[in-house]
Amino acid sequence: MTQIKNDLFLRACKKEKIERTPIWVMRQAGRYLPEYRAVREKADFLTMCKTPELAAEVTLQPIDLIGVDAAIIFSDILVIPEAMGMTLEMHEGRGPVFPSPIRTENDANSLKNIDPTKDLKYVLDAVSLTKKELNGRVPLIGFSGSPWTLLTYMVEGGGSKNFSNVKKMIFNNPKLAHSILEKLSSAISVYLSAKIEAGANAVQIFDTWGGILSQDDYQEFSLQYVEKIIDNIKRVNEPVIYFPKGVHSNLEKVASCGADVLGLDWTMDLGKVRALVGDKVALQGNMDPTVLYGSEEVIKDRALKTMKSYGNGSGHIFNLGHGILPDVAPANLKTLVNFVKENSTQFHK
Ligand code: CP3
Repeated sequence: MTQIKNDLFLRACKKEKIERTPIWVMRQAGRYLPEYRAVREKADFLTMCKTPELAAEVTLQPIDLIGVDAAIIFSDILVIPEAMGMTLEMHEGRGPVFPSPIRTENDANSLKNIDPTKDLKYVLDAVSLTKKELNGRVPLIGFSGSPWTLLTYMVEGGGSKNFSNVKKMIFNNPKLAHSILEKLSSAISVYLSAKIEAGANAVQIFDTWGGILSQDDYQEFSLQYVEKIIDNIKRVNEPVIYFPKGVHSNLEKVASCGADVLGLDWTMDLGKVRALVGDKVALQGNMDPTVLYGSEEVIKDRALKTMKSYGNGSGHIFNLGHGILPDVAPANLKTLVNFVKENSTQFHK
């Protein structure tokens, strides 16, 4: 096994003492980079995901061009429903679409159990190839959606404003919702285990839509499945990061889900959350992604405020509170990354 040269990210996940705060950003392999758009011009999004050479190429771009401390494999959370048999289309400007959403027992029965080594082999191949090309420079993160977040897309058939269809399902036919969430939990557990087996050094579970549920419903339809998955992932000491976007309540309970790291969006107070749960987990986040529209001065000021909010000591992984937006100038991200690298040592004395 190749030794990882820059393992600051992994050590921060375990709250070990480090020299400075590591930084990576969600959606770092994406459209804000002209180099990504050049690859994307030759292949559509799903073809990129399914071609390990292309997935590896764009995964490495932010490492080479921006200098982040971790790579995240280029893929999408929706490859699991696709592997379970759903048709997935990516529409330019509109995002992902499932033309035949899951609404009935019959629809749900058509979802097959996946074997990731067959049905998602292309992702595992992309992970191994990327690991080889990274050659131990920085750790590689694998990821999946949470069962709840995947369910919202599968039932709505794409992005949604009010989530009416998935809400109808949980209130009118909770049994059906739970049966699909069970199936997804098994799929995600074996998938994340396979990614680790293929070489991922950490995994992140994106619960992008956890925050649209009331407190009790979040517990019932999201958190309990995330706990099960984390319990079931086969790993040696690879950290698990859980990102429950928009979830503001019961954070002690959320922090006890088994994850090593809790990802926070920008509406959370990093310092307050640390005071509440910092003995249980490391924290990742959480600068507002739109700060990167600001001047160099504004970016540095907000970055410093984010680090000060966490305060002294290990256990902070700098990230944005959600994905970087496609119209951000790469130079602004570079400003942020360099600033965090150069100015975070003061928090680790
Ligand atoms: O972070 C990374 O750099 C790794 C790659 C990654 C992508 N999607 C690439 C992508 C990751 C981790 C994801 C996760 C993902 N996908 C989530 C959870 C995180 C989040 O953002 O909340 C969700 C909800 C999805 C589903 C999805 N995929 C949506 C809603 C969209 C369209 C939105 C948009 O920005 O257009 C996608 C497409 C997608 N996934 C793109 C990328 C780079 C843009 C596709 C393109 O190049 O045209």
